[in-house]
Amino acid sequence: MTVPLRPFGRTGVKVSALALGTMMFGSRGNSDHDDSVRIIRHALDAGINLIDTADVYSQGESETIVGKALLGRRDDVFLATKFHGQIGTDPNQFGNSRRWVVRAVEHSLRRLQTDHIDLYQVHRPEDDTDFDETLGALSDLVHQGKIRYIGTSTFEPSAIVEGQWTADRRGRERVVAEQPPYSILARGVEREVLPIARKYGLAVIPWSPLAGGWLTGRFRAGGAQPSSSRAGRQPGRYEIDAPENATKLAAVEALAELAEQSGLSLIHLALGFVLEHPAVTAPIIGPRTLEQLEGQLGAARVRLSADILDEIDKIVPPGVTLSARDQGYHPPALTDPTRRRRSAT
Ligand SMILES: NC(=O)c1ccc[n+]([C@@H]2O[C@H](COP(=O)([O-])OP(=O)(O)OC[C@H]3O[C@@H](n4cnc5c(N)ncnc54)[C@H](OP(=O)(O)O)[C@@H]3O)[C@@H](O)[C@H]2O)c1
Repeated sequence: MTVPLRPFGRTGVKVSALALGTMMFGSRGNSDHDDSVRIIRHALDAGINLIDTADVYSQGESETIVGKALLGRRDDVFLATKFHGQIGTDPNQFGNSRRWVVRAVEHSLRRLQTDHIDLYQVHRPEDDTDFDETLGALSDLVHQGKIRYIGTSTFEPSAIVEGQWTADRRGRERVVAEQPPYSILARGVEREVLPIARKYGLAVIPWSPLAGGWLTGRFRAGGAQPSSSRAGRQPGRYEIDAPENATKLAAVEALAELAEQSGLSLIHLALGFVLEHPAVTAPIIGPRTLEQLEGQLGAARVRLSADILDEIDKIVPPGVTLSARDQGYHPPALTDPTRRRRSAT
């Protein structure tokens, strides 16, 4: 199996049309390092050359596993990681400050056993940190050769545009990629994020293309509650009987039927859908086991006809995210008093 290549935005780099996400490797999912290394190497053998991790995934354990898997194969891979999430308990081992960025990158390089990161991503924007502070530190890392390119994740449309303008006006290195949530059940980014990415020539590597597991075929109306490695971390999100999930479950039922009529697995329909958007470079798949990886690899060559895409639009209309919890970012909550009143301290 060979996964086709696609241009990574306007960088000139070619990456596989599926990226391998490694969030499930480590204590959060699969804590068997040897098995996780085997899965990563199997993905590389199948033609995947883009690997995504983050310092915060199992508090560094995912990066450590990726480092082991890439020994001897580092140059074959476009390696992406992220910073921002809380590491340990020190309040300054968090966020997007220059002070933390320059330390966080050293920790990631050590765990990944490499001297450079291909794509270093800001995991989330930070309200109280001037983006120029972050972009300045990241630009220095590019000039030092520690990172090749800068990316963002789950940035709102205005923040993506601000990032481009900040680079332009202040002479910083440019953000070249955005990593947003995107699946048939979470289409909110079709409104602004994806058109903006096309306008600025950004690569787009969407996360949770199976909506965190909802689009695997395991979640069916009337069926038994399926097991999920994430249910404990996100109570309610994976309960098939919860009223808040009823719309999602109805959509999954209709999509499963459409997949069957189309001769596809629901997983291939879901990944094929993300791959069809012209702004998308490569969905990031997130297998926990080798079997799960194998169930996804074939999707790289799936093409969905206009008729199938029209049917999907009838089930979940363009631009609609069925559950706010799948949106990834939260538009400013105007009901939150801290956003409209000076705090007492
Ligand atoms: N930037 C961000 O904020 C962000 C956020 C989330 C993810 N990500 C990145 O995106 C990657 C993918 O995200 P995701 O893990 O949420 O993706 P996803 O594909 O939407 O969900 C993956 C889950 O689906 C289930 N699954 C996958 N393949 C399956 C198969 N063949 N059969 C049955 N179930 C299957 C597994 O659930 P079980 O484990 O329950 O079996 C797996 O954990 C991550 O690894 C990470 O790199 C980034």
